[in-house]
Amino acid sequence: MPSPELVVLDHKDQLPEVASERTAHVIREAIRDRGECFIALAGGNTPRPIYAMLARRSDIDWSKVRFYFGDERCVPPEDPESNFLMAKTSLLDRLDLEEGQVFRMEAERESREEAAKAYCALLPERFDLIHLGMGPDGHTASLFPGDSALDETQRRVVPVYGPKPPPWRLTLTSPVIQRARQVFVFAFGASKAAKVKEAVEGEWNPKEVPIQLALHGVWFLDREAVSELPQGPQ
Ligand code: 6PG
Repeated sequence: MPSPELVVLDHKDQLPEVASERTAHVIREAIRDRGECFIALAGGNTPRPIYAMLARRSDIDWSKVRFYFGDERCVPPEDPESNFLMAKTSLLDRLDLEEGQVFRMEAERESREEAAKAYCALLPERFDLIHLGMGPDGHTASLFPGDSALDETQRRVVPVYGPKPPPWRLTLTSPVIQRARQVFVFAFGASKAAKVKEAVEGEWNPKEVPIQLALHGVWFLDREAVSELPQGPQ
C-alpha cells in the first residue's frame, strides 16, 4: 500500500503558496517532458485560495495547460454550488486562455449518463496532476464511502447520488485517479483527522475510505488534520 508524502502546514494560510509552488513545478515538468500538461481541478472550498495564488504566478506557460475537473455537481455552471464556477472565478478567468483549454463537466445536462459519456471522451489518456479535496467521511471528488461508483473499473466518468448536497454529481473514477502521474490532496481541520489516520494507517479499503485512491500522492494538511497520526502535531 503506498504512503503519501505528507506536507504538514502550521496554518491553512500557508497552503496557497506551498500548494501553488508544488503545482507550478509539476506543470513545468509536464510541459518540459511532454509539451503540455493535463490537470484536473478539485471542487469544494479548500482549493479556492490555491487557485487565486496560482493565477498570480508568472512562471507557468498557461497556453500549454489543459484544465479538467475531478467532479461536478449537477447544477448550471453559474450556480454558486458549481465547482466550475469556483475555478472560473478564482483561476481560469484570470489567465489568458484560448478556447479549448478548459474542459467543463456539463453535469447540468438532462441525461447525466450522456454527460458522463461525453466527458469521458474528452479525457486525456493520463492526467499529469489531479487536485483532490477530502470530506470528513473520507470521500474524494464525488466518490463517497460504499458507493458502487468505487467498484467501477471501466468507465472513467460516472454519475453518482451522494450524501453531500447537491446530491447528483459526475465524478472521475478510481482508475483515472490511480493512473494519474501525480495527485495532490488538500485536507484541513480536525473534522478530517480520523479519516486521514484511517487512510494512511489503516488497511487498504478504498471502497470505505475513498481518499486511499490518492495514497500515491502528496497530501497537504494542517496540524489539526494530522492530529490523530502518531507524529501528530509537535
Ligand atoms: C465536491 C468536492 C469534494 C470536496 C470535499 C472537501 O464537489 O464537493 O469535490 O470532494 O473536495 O468535500 O470539500 P472542502 O474543501 O470544501 O472541505
